[in-house]
Amino acid sequence: MSCDDWRNLSTQEVAPLLEAERARWLTGLSWETQTTWATVEEARAGGRLPGFVLREHGRITGWTFYLLRGNMVQIGALAAEEARGVRRLIDEVLDAPEASRADRASLFVFPSNASLATALTRRRFVMRDHEYLTRDIACQSGRGDLDRDAAGGSSLAVRPFRETDETRIVRLLAEAYRDVPSAECFAPNGRLEEWAWYVRQLLRTSACGTLVPDATFVIEEPECDALAGAVLTTDISDATAHIAQIVVSPRAQGVGLGTRLLDTAIARLRSRGGRRVTLMVSDDNTRAKAIYAKRGFTAGPTFLYGTRPMPRRLARAS
Ligand SMILES: CC(C)(COP(=O)(O)OP(=O)(O)OC[C@H]1O[C@@H](n2cnc3c(N)ncnc32)[C@H](O)[C@@H]1OP(=O)(O)O)[C@@H](O)C(=O)NCCC(=O)NCCS
Repeated sequence: MSCDDWRNLSTQEVAPLLEAERARWLTGLSWETQTTWATVEEARAGGRLPGFVLREHGRITGWTFYLLRGNMVQIGALAAEEARGVRRLIDEVLDAPEASRADRASLFVFPSNASLATALTRRRFVMRDHEYLTRDIACQSGRGDLDRDAAGGSSLAVRPFRETDETRIVRLLAEAYRDVPSAECFAPNGRLEEWAWYVRQLLRTSACGTLVPDATFVIEEPECDALAGAVLTTDISDATAHIAQIVVSPRAQGVGLGTRLLDTAIARLRSRGGRRVTLMVSDDNTRAKAIYAKRGFTAGPTFLYGTRPMPRRLARAS
């Protein structure tokens, strides 16, 4: 098995790899990722996005890419036919010169086969499962939604998102996720600047779908410059939307605001012709999972989030 820097490959060689991944996301998740792969290819071909391909007898049997963000190496995709291929790709990333300034590695992947989790565990990644949930919203499900006052008597109003809400959403996320372990996949150290970066990605890029401003809502906290809750919704393919984020301030939790935000977003998505809503929830987020189960979301494929320290390197002799 040989391993090459994928930046040396031609666009023609890489195109089938990206196309296979795009098809897998569309079939398995109803998620159209064409724009994402176009961005990846542009950065790769321009030499800005490092990665590797594995070959056996000339045929490509695995590939990965990664980027450095702060002190973290983020592995963006990891596809290999066999576990030993996954292990080899991980070893190459951990040992890459571009990764030498990082002290942690992380990845958030939609596994193509069961050997991925085994290989990551053998390479000492600590893993957390995230469930990809789906709900059909083409017709009224009869479960209530907006018909019922889910907010348990709270009089706080849900209003559409405005661009000026961005900073308050950042603060809300940092506060609400402070004690939620799975927050590490959004803001690894819980710092405000990490949340600000994450929110910018949601609002201005297609990294997690394209924002649907009119199905994105907030609830203001009375008498202070803060939000009590927010739901951020994106389009991920024709008629399929994604609840990219739902969050309620710890001071306002448990009185139905989370459920109300979810119901409001779904009602709006349905009224604009949406047929399906998806979202992602960490397996250990029991409170959020309770809401989604109550609202008829069902479990689909599992994503894997994994993280580990970078190996210590010996200082090079001068
Ligand atoms: C998940 C979250 C949005 C829920 O918001 P919320 O306003 O507290 O939710 P609701 O009041 O609508 O409660 C919905 C359900 O959660 C559960 N729940 C609410 N408060 C709870 C509490 N204090 N303890 C345990 N479960 C609770 C209940 O099952 C409740 O259902 P019920 O109506 O049958 O009682 C909120 O807890 C939060 O922001 N958490 C941090 C961010 C997060 O995890 N987001 C989800 C990412 S997928």
